[in-house]
Amino acid sequence: MHTLEPGIEVPDPLAPYLEVDRSQPRHECWVTGHMVAGLDGTAAVDGRVGPLSTRPDQALYRAMREIADVVMVGAETVRRERFGPVRLSDEAQGRRRSLGKPALPPVAVVSRSLDLDWTARVFTQVPADARTHVITCAAANGERLAEADRAGVVVMAGEERVEPAAALRALADLGHRVVLCEGGPTWLGEVVAADRLDELCLSLSPLMGGDPLPVSVTPPGAGMAAFELRAILAEDDTVFLRYEARSAPGVERGER
Ligand SMILES: NC(=O)c1ccc[n+]([C@@H]2O[C@H](COP(=O)([O-])OP(=O)(O)OC[C@H]3O[C@@H](n4cnc5c(N)ncnc54)[C@H](OP(=O)(O)O)[C@@H]3O)[C@@H](O)[C@H]2O)c1
Repeated sequence: MHTLEPGIEVPDPLAPYLEVDRSQPRHECWVTGHMVAGLDGTAAVDGRVGPLSTRPDQALYRAMREIADVVMVGAETVRRERFGPVRLSDEAQGRRRSLGKPALPPVAVVSRSLDLDWTARVFTQVPADARTHVITCAAANGERLAEADRAGVVVMAGEERVEPAAALRALADLGHRVVLCEGGPTWLGEVVAADRLDELCLSLSPLMGGDPLPVSVTPPGAGMAAFELRAILAEDDTVFLRYEARSAPGVERGER
């Protein structure tokens, strides 16, 4: 065990995240989860994430989208947060263009019900090269599917439900090599249960209370997923943890 002393100052909090080599994923694409939790693990306050997010977390949250080829999110988060299209600074857009990427990454919404507002900004106020994707399954309602097809890019990934592996394969086939998963906890839990979370960037906010909703809700019966700590940053009272999936099994567990 070590104590942590404040180390060198990091002038650009995004820099350590930009430096991560995500070019060798375990599967077709690299999946980074980016979540914020209270000290008690809560993922929302009255159904919204905003009250949990401190100023340094908000700044990193906005900037992190620069790493993404696509920003993947569960439908409930889109509904509750009135999730909008991705915005990036002019500098970030320039850096992406210089790497041959579209200036902005598209959003990809995961939904079986397709109970989504097709007039929302996330569908209507997006550039032509970053149209919002709708990841759904064959069991989706036909009329809603037709609406989804008009509003965005439909991605079929499963029969009765969206299978995370099929969804990620389809995103990779569309050229998306780095998938940023911004939750919510239900969809993130599905990704974890499918062993497809390569990296978790978790902000710890100095708050307790909020909803009884942890940052990841793995489906019943799913095994444990193990991660290795790769970085710790702190600003004010917010801690930023970066973990990567453990390549080989072997977390020593005690009898606690
Ligand atoms: N702390 C954070 O960093 C953070 C981040 C994001 C969100 N949040 C909070 O989390 C809450 C929402 O999260 P949530 O866990 O309730 O919902 P969620 O994960 O955002 O979305 C769940 C929805 O995604 C779709 N979905 C998930 N798995 C699916 C599958 N295998 N196949 C087909 N569709 C699937 C379903 O949509 P349909 O119902 O349309 O079929 C399901 O209802 C909000 O309060 C939000 O503020 C917190």
